[in-house]
Amino acid sequence: MLNYIGNRILTLRKKYNLTQDQLAKKLGISFQAVSKWETGSAYPDIEYFPVLSEIFNVSIDYIVNPNSMENKNPYNTKYEREDYYWGQIPNYRCFDIMQHLAPTRQIKLLDIGCGEGKDAVFFARNGYDVTAFDSSQEGIKKTKQLAEKANVAINAFVANMNEFRLEDNYDIIYSSGALHYIPDDLRSEIFCNYILHTNKGGIHSMSAFVKKPFISRAPDYEKHSYTYKSGELFTYYTNLEIIQCDEVIFDCMSSGVLHKHCSNILLAKKV
Ligand SMILES: C[S@@+](CC[C@H](N)C(=O)[O-])C[C@H]1O[C@@H](n2cnc3c(N)ncnc32)[C@H](O)[C@@H]1O
Repeated sequence: MLNYIGNRILTLRKKYNLTQDQLAKKLGISFQAVSKWETGSAYPDIEYFPVLSEIFNVSIDYIVNPNSMENKNPYNTKYEREDYYWGQIPNYRCFDIMQHLAPTRQIKLLDIGCGEGKDAVFFARNGYDVTAFDSSQEGIKKTKQLAEKANVAINAFVANMNEFRLEDNYDIIYSSGALHYIPDDLRSEIFCNYILHTNKGGIHSMSAFVKKPFISRAPDYEKHSYTYKSGELFTYYTNLEIIQCDEVIFDCMSSGVLHKHCSNILLAKKV
């Protein structure tokens, strides 16, 4: 709980582009006190919570309670159904990855925002050593069920990509349809962390939704999602070898209503 509150304050402070000193001044305290909250070595005193809630425009519940309504992942409801919301057919990019880095030795692969695990389980079935995370508990539950059904082992866990940072290294980092949940101001730091924790010769296969004036918002559009500028995804990869960078427009039937998305697709290698 202690770390949860500290992480939440850190994330909100960054979202509002405030330094520790600027936040401290608004609260009438020292920046060292803010630093202690963020590193988890102290709790804020109770009187600061209403002020924090006002500064960051969120409820106190959101700051202190990981299970608050605002923190509940809307995908939980979609994933509670017995069938698979995104189906069980792997994304075509999974096959591209196999061509670029086949599991001829132990290859550690990370799937970010794995949903109900269709891609993660496909990779595991094909011999990759798979770690996968998603912020939806229901998604992770179904990922584990799918893995069990396929008789493969996956390290799957619940985590919020805006707060969770990699400490282990991977050979492949993959994400499909989830990176738009990273707000603009956290992207540079998060992609740096992913690249830092990629082994030499390793690859990233990423897709990110792009905003286009001629494409309307999807009917199942979720709050707290932030589309990318066209080409923005590639800018985080200037120090890697870009193998593929595409912009594609495709039809989608999620929510049962036909609509279009635009995505940037990237395949890059750390040389
Ligand atoms: C469009 S779905 C894609 C799921 C999966 N990658 C697939 O292609 O089937 C987006 C996923 O991102 C997850 N997500 C949303 N915000 C997240 C966050 N902050 N951290 C981790 N996962 C998140 C959602 O729970 C959801 O499962």
